[in-house]
Amino acid sequence: MKSTPWWKEAVIYQIYPRSFYDSNGDGEGDLAGITSHLSYVRELGVDAIWLSPFYTSPNKDGGYDVANPRDVDPRFGDLEDFKALIMSAHNFNLRVLADIVPNHFSDQHEWFQSALKAGRGSPERNRFHFYDANPDGTPPNNWISLFGGPSWTQVDDGQFYLHLFDSSQPDLNWDNPDVHADFETTLRFWLDLGVDGFRIDVAHGLVKEDIGKDHPDPSGLSNALRLDVEMETEARNALLESVPYFDRQGVHEIYRKWRKIFDSYGNRDVMAVAEAWVHPPLNATRYVRADELHQVFNFDLLTAPFNRNFLFDVITRSIEHNATVNALPTWALSNHDSPRVASRIGDLESQALALFVFALPGSAYVFAGQELGLPDGQLDDSDRQDPSFIRSHGAIKGRDGARVPLPWSGDEPPFGFTTGKPWLPINQSWSVLTVESEKSDSNSVLNLYRSAIALRTEFLAGSGEIKWLESPLHGSNQGQLLGFKRGKITVYMNLSDKDCALDFDGQVIISSNSSSIDSNEKQVIPACSTVWILN
Ligand code: NOJ
Repeated sequence: MKSTPWWKEAVIYQIYPRSFYDSNGDGEGDLAGITSHLSYVRELGVDAIWLSPFYTSPNKDGGYDVANPRDVDPRFGDLEDFKALIMSAHNFNLRVLADIVPNHFSDQHEWFQSALKAGRGSPERNRFHFYDANPDGTPPNNWISLFGGPSWTQVDDGQFYLHLFDSSQPDLNWDNPDVHADFETTLRFWLDLGVDGFRIDVAHGLVKEDIGKDHPDPSGLSNALRLDVEMETEARNALLESVPYFDRQGVHEIYRKWRKIFDSYGNRDVMAVAEAWVHPPLNATRYVRADELHQVFNFDLLTAPFNRNFLFDVITRSIEHNATVNALPTWALSNHDSPRVASRIGDLESQALALFVFALPGSAYVFAGQELGLPDGQLDDSDRQDPSFIRSHGAIKGRDGARVPLPWSGDEPPFGFTTGKPWLPINQSWSVLTVESEKSDSNSVLNLYRSAIALRTEFLAGSGEIKWLESPLHGSNQGQLLGFKRGKITVYMNLSDKDCALDFDGQVIISSNSSSIDSNEKQVIPACSTVWILN
């Protein structure tokens, strides 16, 4: 009988290579820096690492502007460094996921450069979305880039090309067989080098429809697509269902073909996870049908308030939706595109939520630095590099705050990250959040994560479904406790700012607020915390 694939209930650690560890003093992290710190990752207890892009890139969008998808950017090292990383990771029993970016290339990719030269109507231009201007000289349609400004840029001969993101990221035309063939080559290239799978960037965006038409409300749509813009849920949902460039049926044909490639690597158990921001949420499950991808990110918790009913609803929904296609959910509290969870909902709240999520079925993703409880770095505008900040002329602050390099050791910035000047400044206040200081503090967030992941492996592996518990509280705290039972473990999260006395059988084996563990007289779920009880 086939054993459970490794990724079904894995903890996957996302590394943003530029911000992890700098081995050569140029102020930016690199592959050798990652390799030299894999023992730290191993000690965390995770199953795999996902590397954000490290490919040749002019780095206009943190490497998501790929100029050569089958090579390493010199800033990060070279292919030999990558081979060394894979070998070391596998020796540590860590799987490695690469990030594949199929919606667009960099404008510095040789295909785009030759398309510019080849001119109107050429096969080279057909690999992208080049169109003539409207008779009045305006772009072919009114779509707005996700980074702000028009999604069309004009070239010297008057044609426009489409870019859903920065103008340096021309969208690829997935109606062109060259594009299919090239990505199949790229998948095999990294699989042959030993990667265990992929995170697929903008997985829902590859196929575009109605390029010849204006959208009736392009700025409404652009706001609806931005997480930092508040909008009524119904209005947002209505707009999101009308996006002509996301979640078109054609994308699924592409993943069916890719799945055959993954499966051709046999017992390697290759997996792929889709970044697919789609609406309605049930549509996400289409990406994980049996003949498509293995996981799809669930982004609900990246934006969820620390609110009992909200969390109950989105967790229930994600589990139920995935079950319709026999898949397990994924959970992510932070990533390189969103404010860090500690800044977004608070320190204690984020630790409680993390411990809650580690007990759920499915895979948990941890964004490097989350395990230290890092907040967003405080940056001056002059430090910011995110294209969304630049294209919006500062109206969108962008994602740099979540990308500030990791603090490793010492009392002063750059806290051992580099011997040079870090590419983004690190705040002095992080001296208490370094790996070194947290390792030696038994109550640190780092030690909470280590213990939680170890206990998850020990008690929850293969434990199946959760059973929600009725809130046993009365009075003013009613409704503030969220609990479930899974296997031998009962989990309670107290979302209120008051401790809750509670009768329960069993022993508290971990608490996100460690003060509860020793309280023998009273059984207490401390304010703003999660506990796991072994029954
Ligand atoms: C999603 C990536 O996570 C983000 O960082 C990037 O800017 C866009 N896709 C465009 O590739």
